[in-house]
Amino acid sequence: MKKIKTLLVLGFIIIITYSCNQHQEKVRITKDFTLDWQFSLGDHPEAVRDSINSDDWRKLNLPHDWSIEGEFSEFNPAKPEGGALPTGIGWYRKEFTLNEAWENKVITIVFDGVYRNSEVWVNGNYLGKRPYGYSSFKYDISRFVKYAGQKNVIAVKVDNSEQPNSRWYTGSGIYRNVWLSVTNKAFVNYWGTFVNTPEITQNRATVSFKATVNNTFESQKKLKIITRILNDKLEEVTKGEEEVVIASGKSKDVKFSLVVDKPKLWNVDHPYLYSVETLVYSNNKLIDNYTTPLGIRSFEFNAQKGFIFNGKSTKIKGVCLHHDLGALGSAINKEAIKRRLVSLKRMGANAIRTAHNPPSPELLQLCDSIGFFVQDELFDVWKKKKVKEDYHNNFEEWHVQDLKDWIVRDRNHPSVFMWSIGNEIREQFDSTGIEITQELTKLVKELDTSRPVTSALTENEPQKNFIYQSGALDVLGFNYKHEAYEDLPNRFKNAKFISSESVSGLATRGHYDFPKDSTQFWPPAHNQPFNGNEDFTVSAYDNIAAYWGATHEDTWKTVKKLPFIAGMFVWTGADYLGEPIPYPYPARSSYFGILDLAGFPKDVYYMYQSEWGNEDVLHLFPHWNWKEGDTIPVWAYYNHADKVELFLNGKSLGVKSKVGDELHVSWDVPYAAGELKAISYKGATKVKETSVKTAGLATSIKLDASKSTIQPNQKDMVFIEVTIQDKNGIMVPDANNHIVFEVTGGADIAGVDNGYQASLEPFQANHRNAYNGKCLLIIKSNGKEEAVHITASSPELSSESITIKSN
Ligand code: GAL
Repeated sequence: MKKIKTLLVLGFIIIITYSCNQHQEKVRITKDFTLDWQFSLGDHPEAVRDSINSDDWRKLNLPHDWSIEGEFSEFNPAKPEGGALPTGIGWYRKEFTLNEAWENKVITIVFDGVYRNSEVWVNGNYLGKRPYGYSSFKYDISRFVKYAGQKNVIAVKVDNSEQPNSRWYTGSGIYRNVWLSVTNKAFVNYWGTFVNTPEITQNRATVSFKATVNNTFESQKKLKIITRILNDKLEEVTKGEEEVVIASGKSKDVKFSLVVDKPKLWNVDHPYLYSVETLVYSNNKLIDNYTTPLGIRSFEFNAQKGFIFNGKSTKIKGVCLHHDLGALGSAINKEAIKRRLVSLKRMGANAIRTAHNPPSPELLQLCDSIGFFVQDELFDVWKKKKVKEDYHNNFEEWHVQDLKDWIVRDRNHPSVFMWSIGNEIREQFDSTGIEITQELTKLVKELDTSRPVTSALTENEPQKNFIYQSGALDVLGFNYKHEAYEDLPNRFKNAKFISSESVSGLATRGHYDFPKDSTQFWPPAHNQPFNGNEDFTVSAYDNIAAYWGATHEDTWKTVKKLPFIAGMFVWTGADYLGEPIPYPYPARSSYFGILDLAGFPKDVYYMYQSEWGNEDVLHLFPHWNWKEGDTIPVWAYYNHADKVELFLNGKSLGVKSKVGDELHVSWDVPYAAGELKAISYKGATKVKETSVKTAGLATSIKLDASKSTIQPNQKDMVFIEVTIQDKNGIMVPDANNHIVFEVTGGADIAGVDNGYQASLEPFQANHRNAYNGKCLLIIKSNGKEEAVHITASSPELSSESITIKSN
């Protein structure tokens, strides 16, 4: 009897599993197509042929950026503004065979982004060209590919030789991922769905969903389309079903309105993600499945109250980010993007502006899952150029295609909450701006009406701003000039506002000058030359900014107190390659970041953390290695407390509190070596204690790895922070020791950096000078399932080793 019972239960389990699996069966294949490519710099028109001798071509995996591998020179055509690295023309080739079973399938190759002017051939057949380096695009290659074990060849020409074509570093090459999508002949279009949530109450959310289904079979097809909403455990919460008949060679939009009871809302603190699974059946056989992300959330901009998200007034605490990843160049890597986002999230930032172009899909996936609002931006120029060879050359022919591809790719991400059609566009100053703004906005609205359209403007006089005069923008973005924010509602009646870009403060991590003036602007008034430091550094006291900007503190104070300003995007969250204001070459990367190029926080990170974040903050700076007798301005950022007491070598230097809207406290301290300690209090209760100590001679190296294991998948990365310390474990604040790395086992070196904006050392090397006590080693899985052994050594220091396990 017991046996029978067990058998019955087992049978039941099998039936359940079987029916669940039926639903989970995947017929669509999306294959990572980044491994085993060949690359050769220079022009190789012969590479489109099936058989060429490419033995001397380099073997590599994508994503790849050849610029970052090059040598810095002020004479490189991209100029220091573009990062001072080489550009030019390069070719990629890959030989591949296709699975026999795919012979009657639709094969699509998808490029997430190629910088720039890509041209693609498969087996000698020309597929097309794509000038804009930030657009994702795809080609149906079904009719060009061969089966029966025959070799196929894909060749990609990348031409980044017309220079300068950007105001910042772009990178060169197939710098984002490539996918091979394999579907049956009736399928949901790649980027062919659209989900949004028009009505949300506590009890129910209406989810409106549309899928564009294609029929490329030779005959008409009757298809059953099932759309299921799954929760974050992939359990079905609701579903809908439709039958459609689609003629051969045609497509149809299939629409659903579904209801989710008691919806869990997506917000930046709890980014709850549902997903929508679309199943296509023909004669009861599953022939396609397509997954669309879904976050249920509502928001609006209000002329008086700013930004209201899920019914709550919410300040947008954002940062602008360019797409490069420092030492990795623009070659995207999800772990590297994640490292940066996690650090900014910890600081309390809740929003990213993708300056000034569509980001990688991975950035949006991470913003969906980590919890960031994204202002997704399309262009830095329209028809009027900013630099000689920029996108103005392509605007006329390509803007419609680029805009459409941008929206359909990104419109299902819950993180994306605004479309920006341009940054500081020149056409704002003349009447041609009216028509172009109307056209671009109309194109956006044809594909998505659920998000406002904005543009980042500089002209804040209504009669002089023609983008504003188009009447087409839903929200006005203003860059800089925060002194005028208070008056904006008088100038632009009933408008909704966001500070789309602000600050442009300058700093070098760990470098401090002691000026008398509290704030300096670059360039100085009356066109005087900028008398900077000989070593191209900028002080980190948040007292130097580009003249069009302001200090971090002044800007945030203004935005904080004005409820009608929805929020702000700081220029920038992280230093980026290129635009090395205020210095000429050898400066070659920006000084604007809250994080330096290696991802290390500058001091102002903690100002934001004290204002925006949740953690208790007490940050004291500068370091404590000065000349006896000097007077040192000592600053502290703090929160969750009402006062801070400072001690030098145990002796109190007094208690200070932030007064009014102040964002830090400070003391002038006559220097004496030893320990400077701060304690914050709420009433009589101690909240936090911190100290900086005088470091002695550098004796050793400390290695801190971002994680203890690495996946053997040829993609995973680990970031190892290298600190030079004295015999007591105190960081030596001016240490610049030359560190040599040895990495063996399951990973290779992917990059090294130290955050110093004027370093001309290569990013792809096994050595680096520390800068102000620190440098960074980035390692990347090489696919071997082996532990990684890392040794860092330097002539005068005891060396240090760590092991990262394979998992
Ligand atoms: C802004 C511009 C940014 C960057 C910044 C530097 O005007 O939008 O792209 O150039 O200035 O301060």
